[in-house]
Amino acid sequence: MTTANMGGPTGRILVVGGYGAVGATVTSTLTEWFPGRVIPGGRDAARARENGGVRVDVSDPEGFREVLDGLGDVAAVVLCVEPPDARVARTCLERGIHLVDIGATRRQLDAVAELHDPAVRSGATALLSVGVAPGLTNLLARRAHEAVGGAESLRLTVLLGSGERHGADAVRWTVQGLAEPATAGPERTFLPGFGARTAHPFPFSDQHTLRRTLRVPDVTTRLCLDSRPLTGMLFALRRAGLLRVACRPAAQRLLTGVFRRVHTGGDAFAVRADARHGDQYAAYGLTGRAQSRVTGLVAAFATRELMTGSLPAGVHHIEQLPSLDGVLGWLGSHGVTTRRLDGRTRR
Ligand SMILES: NC(=O)c1ccc[n+]([C@@H]2O[C@H](COP(=O)([O-])OP(=O)(O)OC[C@H]3O[C@@H](n4cnc5c(N)ncnc54)[C@H](OP(=O)(O)O)[C@@H]3O)[C@@H](O)[C@H]2O)c1
Repeated sequence: MTTANMGGPTGRILVVGGYGAVGATVTSTLTEWFPGRVIPGGRDAARARENGGVRVDVSDPEGFREVLDGLGDVAAVVLCVEPPDARVARTCLERGIHLVDIGATRRQLDAVAELHDPAVRSGATALLSVGVAPGLTNLLARRAHEAVGGAESLRLTVLLGSGERHGADAVRWTVQGLAEPATAGPERTFLPGFGARTAHPFPFSDQHTLRRTLRVPDVTTRLCLDSRPLTGMLFALRRAGLLRVACRPAAQRLLTGVFRRVHTGGDAFAVRADARHGDQYAAYGLTGRAQSRVTGLVAAFATRELMTGSLPAGVHHIEQLPSLDGVLGWLGSHGVTTRRLDGRTRR
């Protein structure tokens, strides 16, 4: 059954995963802007209630529909956990409920992107690639792409702090990524605040999205951690094929548990985007602390834009809507510094 959304811009916002590492920031930031209209959700009924929210499970699409029916006036859903497929997104968009998805898995984002026409028909907007990577990587890539008049190649680099307490779902996603074979070689890159680092190809969704949205044929995203020994060890294990076991659910759970206990660095992170077109070259970089918090801030900003009703209906990645570039300036007041880098900083 498709029920037209009656929430409109005055409805409430359901934050699924709203008390997780990312979701807690989304919930608290949106609550400041929309007091009394933000509902955190998750599978743990007691925890959800403690946080003033509801029990909801995105792996149960029928149950998810019942939750929306029960709440009655949901105007927007923020997904701070990856559902197994696009059914939850379809339910929202067919009902005219806006959607913000912080997911980083290419297959899932591609499936949601296919819901563009139903979203246009219902007048709903879905925002994808919302967060740090994907998210801020996409925005820096677009700046660098424009600075060279249309890039032929883009190189994205993400450095994460291994001392940060990343959420279980984010660590599970990273473990899954480590199980995939490398698609390119490592590269040495200068990261603002960290110096020269060796980064390794990693299956962030941005590199696939940007080939389509910016029409750049050659895009690669690489990852390193602030701890050089940990980066070296992790990618040596991947090269040796020892992390392929993470394809199996039991091994994935075990490795996620082990990785969640490793805290040997700080919580600062950095992102860099390099664009080339012939002999034209441009690079942008940013640094901040606590990527889960910053991901939550980006998601809250995107949701506020949606709630103002100024964004076009349909499914869009963050770099496709120019007003969302404003998040980079806004994050400046939250300790995230963005700057253009010169050619000498790429080694
Ligand atoms: N775009 C980016 O830059 C970026 C950055 C960081 C993270 N992420 C993505 O964000 C997601 C969340 O990461 P996180 O670090 O916040 O993880 P987290 O701390 O484990 O939070 C996940 C939250 O979702 C809830 N949850 C888990 N499974 C659920 C389900 N089936 N239905 C409803 N709620 C469920 C959990 O509560 P219960 O266990 O009680 O259900 C928890 O509150 C991950 O998918 C990660 O890949 C994206």
